[in-house]
Amino acid sequence: MVEQHTCTGVLPGWEQVDRLVADAYEYARGSADGAVADYIPALAQVDPELFGVAVAEVDGGLHGVGDVGVEFSIQSISKAFVYALVCQALGHDAVAERIGVNNTGLAFDSVIAIELNDGHPMNPMVNAGAIATTALLPGGSAGEQWEAIRAGLSAFAGRPLELDSAVYRSEAATNQRNRAIARLLESYGRIEADPLEVVDVYTRQCALRVTATDLAVMGSTLADGGVNPISGKRVVSATVCRDTLAVLAANGLYQRSGEWLFDIGLPGKSGVAGGIVAVSPGKAGIGTFSPRLDPAGNSVRGKLATAHLSRALGLNIFASDAVTEPRSGGRAP
Ligand code: DON
Repeated sequence: MVEQHTCTGVLPGWEQVDRLVADAYEYARGSADGAVADYIPALAQVDPELFGVAVAEVDGGLHGVGDVGVEFSIQSISKAFVYALVCQALGHDAVAERIGVNNTGLAFDSVIAIELNDGHPMNPMVNAGAIATTALLPGGSAGEQWEAIRAGLSAFAGRPLELDSAVYRSEAATNQRNRAIARLLESYGRIEADPLEVVDVYTRQCALRVTATDLAVMGSTLADGGVNPISGKRVVSATVCRDTLAVLAANGLYQRSGEWLFDIGLPGKSGVAGGIVAVSPGKAGIGTFSPRLDPAGNSVRGKLATAHLSRALGLNIFASDAVTEPRSGGRAP
């Protein structure tokens, strides 16, 4: 196979990035659209006005405006990082075959998507695929798997992440749908472990507390070939980052992933507590937090702020300029 080249580039200077982060915050703060998630009772109690925008550059530079230090539960954003840990443990082919990479075109908690696909979970970013992915984590017991997730996601964040026990208990008491999804996967032979134990680990991973700054650093680790730019420690391989970002581009915003990619042009992942992480390979991670969501479960202000930054910082991975300088063997201007 030919050598893999990376899509690296440079951001504007530190002060300009700082100013553009502030612009993005002001731009998105004007929206009060959307509604706070309430199907997990503990999430309904959050202040809907909280809002923070953070950028972590791959050289370790951090930028942030607003409530970037406020903790909230990571929810579905955990799926991206648990997927990376499982890819690291099992490799590209095994995970692609067992979990898949294609969008369902349906909501994150769809049951019918499983039925329509003969029990295949389709991709690791919907609940079925995420539960099946968590089940693949190495470890002799659910307790060991949970500790591996906590340690792995903490390594991505560069600090120890803690469980929000109120959110965990609230979701564990109301997650009949996820238990049904896990039982359905079991009926298709897609989960070998005890399905309810797997859902419990999955529910814990969703209740890990993060800040917008943590999300930016976690995203920046994926942008930096798997090395955390703050701790300097390798968390996963560059190949795992590439695979994870491809899956995020196709599925990170569920049935809205196409619109997100069309408008913003970055791999990203949302969570129902209001977090979004977006990744600009070779440049930076963006973390936002604002609890009001669109009907698909994606933070409205988070999307607006990320779209603003993608344009202002030139991050869209599909955007290019024509070559104007002559280059050897190429065409003249
Ligand atoms: O499983 C659930 O329903 C939640 N723990 C996570 C869902 C979620 O974050 C969907 N995202 N936008």
